[in-house]
Amino acid sequence: MLEELIRREFNRWADLGRGRGMEKSHWEITRQMIVLMEVDQHDNVIDLGCGVGWATRVLAQRASRGIVVGVDLSDRMIAQASREYRNPANAFFLVADAAKLPCHSEFFNTLLSVEAIYYYPELEGVAAEVHRILKPGGRAFFLTNYYRENVYGHNWAKYIDIPVHLLGAADYMELLIKVGFRAASHRRIVDSTPIPEDWKPTNWFPTRQDQAKFQSEGALLLIAEK
Ligand SMILES: C[S@@+](CC[C@H](N)C(=O)[O-])C[C@H]1O[C@@H](n2cnc3c(N)ncnc32)[C@H](O)[C@@H]1O
Repeated sequence: MLEELIRREFNRWADLGRGRGMEKSHWEITRQMIVLMEVDQHDNVIDLGCGVGWATRVLAQRASRGIVVGVDLSDRMIAQASREYRNPANAFFLVADAAKLPCHSEFFNTLLSVEAIYYYPELEGVAAEVHRILKPGGRAFFLTNYYRENVYGHNWAKYIDIPVHLLGAADYMELLIKVGFRAASHRRIVDSTPIPEDWKPTNWFPTRQDQAKFQSEGALLLIAEK
């Protein structure tokens, strides 16, 4: 089953310490998204595909009087997230499939999902589930570096052993409206972190220019309003 394959791959990432590494590579784009989320201190927030929970912790500090839940399919990512000594008292972590969330309907004000949407095997099921758990007026923020329009980010998918979706902004808009969101919009978030002097070619970015173009095209941020 695909979910099992994904769990195994991300358990392996967790064991290699890559869960923590993603805090560094995803922080700058996530930081900009968090500003746009305008989270209130009383909000209930869910971080879908939370990995080791670094963004969950940041949101738990902002929504200090609400409940903030990090969910991931990988039990080893969640084990690391739960053990973290910096967890605020209002941060909770769950192992679950994004398509079958063990959460009450209309409980959350806001949802975020960082670099995870293209892995969800049941993409439409996940979008419907996100719609179900949000309160009326609630908003979902999906941030992705892997999308059709940024061709400089496509190479990466050749080096991962699990299937991923390559969708464009318009496909995502259509999907979000189809599952019932009253509005959906998108924008780019540019990572302006300087490329280090000692930069070296990787499988993902064979030249420095590829990396620079990937960053300047930016990540795609999808915003869905219930
Ligand atoms: C690239 S990582 C990003 C993790 C985290 N958001 C971050 O930025 O550090 C993608 C995460 O999505 C999780 N994931 C993939 N498919 C999932 C699903 N169907 N349900 C829940 N989590 C899933 C993976 O286990 C993995 O931890």
